Amino acid sequence: MRRGFIFACTKKSEKEMLDNLIFATNKVYGYKVLAIRKDDFVFLYNIDTDILYGTFISTTDGQYDNSIPLFNGRYPYFVKVQPKTEIKKLNNASIVFRKLKISWRDILSERGVEVLSKILENKNLTLSKNISGLVEKNFRPPIFSTTLWDFPRQSYGDKPKGNNKYPGVTPAFIIYNLIHRYTEPNDLVCDPMAGSGTTIDVCKEERRRVIAFDIVPTRPDIIQADARKLPLKDNSVDMIFIDSPYGDNIKYNEHPLNIGNIPASDEKFYDELEKVMQECYRILKYGKVLAWLIGDQWAKKTFIPVGFKVYERLTKYFQPVDIICVVRRNQSSNTPFWHSKAIQHNFYLRGFKYLIIVKKEHKKQNFGNLKIEWRSYER
Ligand SMILES: C[S@@+](CC[C@H](N)C(=O)[O-])C[C@H]1O[C@@H](n2cnc3c(N)ncnc32)[C@H](O)[C@@H]1O
Repeated sequence: MRRGFIFACTKKSEKEMLDNLIFATNKVYGYKVLAIRKDDFVFLYNIDTDILYGTFISTTDGQYDNSIPLFNGRYPYFVKVQPKTEIKKLNNASIVFRKLKISWRDILSERGVEVLSKILENKNLTLSKNISGLVEKNFRPPIFSTTLWDFPRQSYGDKPKGNNKYPGVTPAFIIYNLIHRYTEPNDLVCDPMAGSGTTIDVCKEERRRVIAFDIVPTRPDIIQADARKLPLKDNSVDMIFIDSPYGDNIKYNEHPLNIGNIPASDEKFYDELEKVMQECYRILKYGKVLAWLIGDQWAKKTFIPVGFKVYERLTKYFQPVDIICVVRRNQSSNTPFWHSKAIQHNFYLRGFKYLIIVKKEHKKQNFGNLKIEWRSYER
């Protein structure tokens, strides 16, 4: 399937983009650029003059190069294009966007491209009142700007990410959001408890390098290792994502070193996770981020604040960055039976997970007992 991507430019950048036939943008829309495939459709929208140019065809996949000699190096995400035929111009494009109920930030479906191209070619197009299907809604998850993250599906895009039948599989949009925030293409991401490999699939699509481990690997690209002893050098990875067991509520496997066989009510569970945290601290580069997904438990009529306990242990080593509330969907307890039980017996079903984001602080320089002696020099 071929899709449509609208790049924005200004009065200043328009000429450079059209002369070089390279359309470029910054990190904010980097996620969109990396979704472009060769032969997709591309448009250029000047936000100062409200003029849309098109239709172009991408001659490459979306690219990243932070040393690109164009645009003063401010736009490292780009695509090379060729005009499909003669370049057409549409004045007052924002009025057309409004009528079509699209934004230049959207990714267009084939139908969206067809409609916009026809308007550009000045072919009189009578728009039906209920024009729909112009935008690819769930092709790329949003990049969230608040601390509440919610997306309706475990996966997104054309290819599955991880295996949604794997117990406790991670929603892929979480990893997607994290790597776009905290890494750049080609950085190395590590998942020490990789399960069905969601992190691997997301990273590969977003052009990050990735290394993943699990005590019982489910696929050949996951390396067998205990997350408390990883075969990696000190200070060697750019980001770590972990969706650890939340106690013994899910049976992953019978391996004796599976931390998911220890109940969250037992302090040993947190002691073992703390060893994982120490190992993460060792392999992570200074100034880089670890994100840990964790949920609380309500079992046997007792509430266990697993998230707070994990946070407490994490901050013994790392500096807090933020805590995200991730909405839980597709829970097995999301049934009328469990909803009525929760109200009848006065307990709550789990509605969210914590995504705890922490950082390995930059090494503080140790000046020891160094005394600074101020001198004045003759000129
Ligand atoms: C919540 S699942 C991870 C889900 C995964 N992110 C996905 O999307 O499929 C937790 C994983 O931790 C693994 N695990 C438990 N103890 C481990 C240990 N000591 N070392 C490495 N992995 C471990 C389990 O085998 C399980 O696959």
